[in-house]
Amino acid sequence: MTLRQIDIGPQYLEEKEEFLLEKIADVKKRLGDQVMVLCHHYQQESVFGFADSTGDSLKLAKDAAKDRDRPYIVFCGVHFMAESADILTSDRQAVMLPDRRAGCPMADMAVIDHVEWAWQELEKVVSGAKIIPVTYVNSSARLKAFVGERGGAVCTSSNAERVLTWALSRGDKVFFFPDEHLGRNSAIALGIPEDETVLWKRGHHMGGNRPETLAGSKVILWDGYCTVHMQFTADHIRMWREKDSDIRIVVHPECRYEVVGQADKYGSTETIIKTISESEPGSKWAVGTEINLVNRLSRQFPDREVHSLSPFPCLCSTMYRIKPAYLLWVLENLAVGREVNRITVDPKTAEKAKLALDRMLAI
Ligand code: 13P
Ligand code: SF4
Repeated sequence: MTLRQIDIGPQYLEEKEEFLLEKIADVKKRLGDQVMVLCHHYQQESVFGFADSTGDSLKLAKDAAKDRDRPYIVFCGVHFMAESADILTSDRQAVMLPDRRAGCPMADMAVIDHVEWAWQELEKVVSGAKIIPVTYVNSSARLKAFVGERGGAVCTSSNAERVLTWALSRGDKVFFFPDEHLGRNSAIALGIPEDETVLWKRGHHMGGNRPETLAGSKVILWDGYCTVHMQFTADHIRMWREKDSDIRIVVHPECRYEVVGQADKYGSTETIIKTISESEPGSKWAVGTEINLVNRLSRQFPDREVHSLSPFPCLCSTMYRIKPAYLLWVLENLAVGREVNRITVDPKTAEKAKLALDRMLAI
């Protein structure tokens, strides 16, 4: 969801970065244990340096759930992540998103009204088969609640295959939201035949499928996608392999199957980091994920070659909205007892969404 952000004023927006960074360090020190700054791996360096904890979506959700003593959590990531943190933290904790415009285009592709409509249409043609909904964590709290209410679970890029296996052990079919590619890549990894996986096209009657196709399917994929990871192609892999036969390719599972299927390895941002950090000095990598993470890996491991898989830098522009000026603005307000940009999920939605999140954490 893309929310409106108030103008924080020239005293923040027109200030030099060095000065902002000094002030962030100072106010963060004053706030001490009152605040926890969580940063996703795609955050820009000037913000990432202030993290108390960094991680992929799963790790950050767990970190938010663990530390119950800090009253303020400043989430440097995107809106759905802050919502999950609000659901998993206690009522005494407040979660702040430094720039409310930091949404996720993929999460916005699964609008709850459209999902409800699709579910009703699907139920009509599957003659009583049990459908288990699974949603990628990159989704609204309302979609997570929808899934929780129907016995389903959330998944992340690090546990999608496990959650899919769990869901198929409980029902006849899985309706997977909102990322077609994570769903397809996980289904293929589990050996589910291609003709048992169907695509549900948003805005089309029956998702553009014939009733008998849906009835015979095992996994139904919502047709959402990540605008960043869709930029990586099989041609990029070919190009790197032609250029250097020693190069290895590691990509995020939000990439298309033509990319994931040809890569040497795929996995969440945490897996990508582990893969490069555990590789031998001198090794060469082309990485299919967001550019801030690729550049950080390249700086952290100067004895290895780390390149972006694409010749063009693939930036998540919504993650990039979290800038030092906004982080400082939130922290300075907290220091005088004012909560700005607090992200809250209403209690009814939170209760149902928590069912789906807790099921994932238990799997
Ligand atoms: P990870 O959970 O792998 O960090 O992915 C989150 C995300 O938004 C990737 O686009
Ligand atoms: Fe959403 Fe893609 Fe950005 Fe991740 S990288 S937050 S999926 S747009």
